[in-house]
Parts: sequence; structure tokens; C-alpha cells
Amino acid sequence: MIQRPKGTKDILPEEACTWQYIEDNSKRIFGQYGFTEIRVPVFEHTELFQRGVGDTTDVVQKEMYTFEDKGGRSITLRPEGTAGVVRAYIENGMASLPSPVKLWYNMAMYRYENVQKGRYREFHQIGAELIGTSSYEADVEIICMAKRMLDTLEMNTVKLNINSIGCPECRAQYQEALKDWIRPNLDRYCETCKSRFDKNPMRILDCKEKICKDLNEGAPAILDYLCDDCKNHFENVKATLDKLKIEYKIDSRIVRGLDYYTKTVFEFVDEENGLTVLAGGRYDGLVKELDGQDTPAIGFAMGVERVADLLTKKVKLSNPTPEVYVAQIGQEPNIFATLLVEDLRSKNIYAQKDITAKSLKAQFKYADRIGAKYVITIGDDELKSGLAKLKNMSTGEEIETGLNADEIADKLK
Ligand code: HAM
Repeated sequence: MIQRPKGTKDILPEEACTWQYIEDNSKRIFGQYGFTEIRVPVFEHTELFQRGVGDTTDVVQKEMYTFEDKGGRSITLRPEGTAGVVRAYIENGMASLPSPVKLWYNMAMYRYENVQKGRYREFHQIGAELIGTSSYEADVEIICMAKRMLDTLEMNTVKLNINSIGCPECRAQYQEALKDWIRPNLDRYCETCKSRFDKNPMRILDCKEKICKDLNEGAPAILDYLCDDCKNHFENVKATLDKLKIEYKIDSRIVRGLDYYTKTVFEFVDEENGLTVLAGGRYDGLVKELDGQDTPAIGFAMGVERVADLLTKKVKLSNPTPEVYVAQIGQEPNIFATLLVEDLRSKNIYAQKDITAKSLKAQFKYADRIGAKYVITIGDDELKSGLAKLKNMSTGEEIETGLNADEIADKLK
């Protein structure tokens, strides 16, 4: 038997209704904040991610699904959404729209990751990008929206951690200080950290290896190196979150795994399983890096698999069950039932009938298994009299009804 590729997941109907709930809720909240949907291609030119996400990141170095197409172009399945959305923003002249431009998306992403709990190779992100302002209020609005989204999804074990990673100027100074601090012990760090030392030393702070974590104790914090502008920005973000009574922790180890971030970065982490369910930050240099006008921006993405996993543990959602199942016996009643269920569906009623020539007994059993609330039984006698029994499947109670859809719809109410 052919099995699904490692790191992918089938979303079966009983889980799909949880996904729909997450999607409907998110869409509603995006609407409240003035975000509209954007859909961009699953694959892009590889260069977009090399330049956008950054050549030295794990995502670009190790995790991309890259291939040459039949025309000899290097193509990559999107590992994240921000680069593609920013490309679309530039390419479609969206800078001329009223600013800031507020976009949301719900898209599958592809990363060749080490598969583990909550970490897939095909996964889904519901995300938002707010492009066109450097104001601290934009950071606050994005964080508020993310929090509201998680709150409506019962994510009450999720905590907000924030940090500022400064702008290229103050970060350069910090990186030098960090390298000076690490250098004496560099040979004791893991190979990955060693390879990051020159080009991306801040990622060393993010290493999960015990030895590196221990060595990192007491490392200088970026917050002590912020320039006045970055410091003010972060102070304003924090002060406004305080006023809004949004709880957060400052975590100077949040550096994020994608190169485009500047200033505010944040993660919502589930305290019980340690997984980040939503993450984002400001990326003031990305639009320019991708050949657009110099335009500041901020956004986030929520991991749908991770949120669905947590939500399933808290709330049992199920697919709708039929209002009525039309059971029938005989050729004429079968045709009548076909017309009747169609009439009921035109009245927005969820109705089913047998389409597999089941016996009457088997039809009742099926109706019970699919959770039909009522069953109406139609045979030759019912067709003659124009009356049939409508049975309430949970109480067993039966009432009589005429055979037209209007009357049945009335009785179902
Ligand atoms: P990210 O931190 O790489 O950021 O991913 C955001 C979220 O996607 C993670 O917090 C996690 O919930 C989920 N996620 C990431 N990788 C996987 C995986 N392999 N399996 C399951 N879930 C995963 C970004 O992608 C940025 N583009 C977010 C952003 C938008 N920043 C600004 N705008």
C-alpha cells in the first residue's frame, strides 16, 4: 500500500471540523481589524526565499523543497508566507493602496524538517501582514489581533513572549559584543553553532543543545544594545500592552529563525507542550530587500496543526448530522423520496436518503449511525394517503406529517 509521505498529515472529517472552526474564527477576527485575504502561489522562484528569508537560515540552507522545472528554473515550494506576500505586494503595485495595507492568508507551507510532535513537512499557517507603517501602534495591533485569535480558540495555556532584536545598526554592535563573549568558548559549542558564529551569531542563542544552552548562560542581551529609536519603540510597545492589560514576558533569547526580522519579535508558546503556536515580528527591511520601496511592515503566522491539536483536547467539535433521513420502500416511494430530499435541501434542510438499495431495516440502522435526528418512512401506503410518520430518533416519539417539504420543514422545527 502506498502511504502518505513522512511529515504530512491526512485531516479526516472528524478533525476537519476543528480546522473549519479555527479558519472561521480567524477570518472573522481579521475582518474586525480590516485585514483582507491574499492568496499567493505554492511555488516561487528559489531566489525569493534566499534573499527574503536569508541564505544563512536553517529554512533556506536545509529545509527547502527545491527543484528545477522543465524550463531549467530553480523553483521552491514556499516554506513560509511572508516573502511571497511581500513579493505580491510589490509586483501588483499594492503600495498605491491606502496605507497600511493589511493582508491575511491561510496557506500550506513546506519545510524538510526533522519530523517530531507538532513539526511537519507540510503544515498550514494562518497569517497576517501589515505593510506600510513603522509605528509602534502597528506592533500593538498585530499582537492584540493574534491574542484575540488565540483567545477565541481557547488557547488559555498559551503565553506571550516578546523581544526586540533592534535595527541593522544596533544589531551589528550587539553581534560584535556577542561574538567577543562567545569566542573564548567557541570550540565547546556544537558544530551548527560554530558554523553560525561568523554570519549569524544571534542564532547561537537559539540552540536547543544542552551544552550550548549552558554555555549561553549570562550572554549579553540585545536589549542592552538597542539604539535610542529601537529602545523607544520597544518601550512604547510594552507600555501600550501594559495599558491593554495584555500579559507578556520579555525573553531576550527570542531571535527568530528567519533573517528579515527587525525590532519587535514575539512568540505565543503553549506552556504545557512547549510548542510555539504563533510567531511573528517586524520586518522593516524586507520590502526594500525584494526591490520594492523602503517600506516597514510587521506580521505573524499561526501554526494551524498545533492550534488544532490543542483545541481538540479542549473542545469536542463534530460535523453536523442530518435533520431528517427519508427512508423508503418500493420503486415509486424511492423516486418520491429523491424529489422530497431535494425539496428539503432547497429549504436549507440537511436531508439524506438511501442511494444504495438498502433494506428498510438497514436504512434505519444507517440513519442511526449517521446521527439523523428524524426519520420519515415512505411506502406505497404513505404515497396513497399523503401522510407519513416522522420519528424522533432520540425519544422514539412519532408524529404524523403530510408529505410535502413545507409541512415536514415546519414539523422539524
Ligand atoms: P515561523 O516561526 O517560522 O514564522 O512559523 C510560524 C508558526 O508556524 C510557528 O510558530 C509554528 O506554529 C508553525 N510552524 C512552523 N514550522 C512548522 C512545522 N514544521 N510544522 C508545524 N508547524 C510549524 C514564519 O513562518 C513567519 N513567516 C511568520 C511571520 C509572518 N512573521 C512575520 N509575518
